[in-house]
Amino acid sequence: MKATAVANANIALVKYWGKRNKELILPFNSSISMVCDGLHTKTTVEFGDYDEDSIKINNEELQKDEKDVLGHVERIRKIAGINKKAKVISEANFPVAAGLASSASGLAALTLAASKAAGLDLSERELTMLARQGSGSASRSISEGFGIWNKGEKEDGTDSFAETIAPKAHWPEFRMIACIVSEAKKATSSRAGMSQTVKTSPYYEGWLKTIDQDIENMKEGIKKKDFTLVGSTAEANALKMHATMITTDPSIIYWAPGTMEIMHSILQWREEGLESYFTMDAGPQVKILCLEKDLEEIQKRLSNLVKKTIVCKPGDGARLTEDHLF
Ligand code: DP6
Repeated sequence: MKATAVANANIALVKYWGKRNKELILPFNSSISMVCDGLHTKTTVEFGDYDEDSIKINNEELQKDEKDVLGHVERIRKIAGINKKAKVISEANFPVAAGLASSASGLAALTLAASKAAGLDLSERELTMLARQGSGSASRSISEGFGIWNKGEKEDGTDSFAETIAPKAHWPEFRMIACIVSEAKKATSSRAGMSQTVKTSPYYEGWLKTIDQDIENMKEGIKKKDFTLVGSTAEANALKMHATMITTDPSIIYWAPGTMEIMHSILQWREEGLESYFTMDAGPQVKILCLEKDLEEIQKRLSNLVKKTIVCKPGDGARLTEDHLF
């Protein structure tokens, strides 16, 4: 009753921001993302004769548990109808809680490893719905390439699942450069931030009014490999999400001075004919979208602005491996 899974992080091109149901994690809006090759979490789960559940993430015993990782293990145990305790060891190869969707790759890897270890044989769609209940964005780290998490309409969440809209081979020239502006743990988690936004931002309604158009534009841009449409839609969507964050009560400003510096530089470079776009999540990191042909020039210019960058192309979905962590 042991299994190991690897799952990549994903970068939202049209963001998920706000829940209509917090228990089942059902979103107000659909979202679209790219799975990031190389930014991964590996997780081994064993159900056995242990006295209690134990979870180690990046060599530390699980402490403050915002995502209720244990609750997720319990959820999977219930579905499988077993009661053995779990040992879980998980390792990410990138900074956790720094706005790089570490929880997405973590909960996706946990979902696949734990369900397999528990003897369940779930379909890809079922896995996305189960991962969703651990962390919404994790639903988008199960399938490969470019994917959509359909918000669904039903109260029970059975139509709120993620799926690939284009495999990674569809657009291998697409790149995301994560600029690590700060490695400090973020002040407000995405979970708390989105709840506060839904409750208090006067602009949340505006976010919902324009989101379906963003989803349509993004789908079309990805299908046609129209980089300008994808980039401009992603950038405008990120700015709209941040507008709702900034206008909550109390205000949540995730940007650091280094965030703004990179944003301004990208706008300036675009004026000069070097095409790239920015997007940010619930943290200060800037993720730059570009095509492979411009990567070298953008990285050269970035070297004056930021110390650490990570480049990703479209990646694989979650997968099992025999290479266990214990
Ligand atoms: C800004 O998936 O971390 O990164 O469902 O509460 O676990 P929970 O939230 P989470 O939120 C991610 C928000 C975002 C945008 C996105 O990835 O779509």
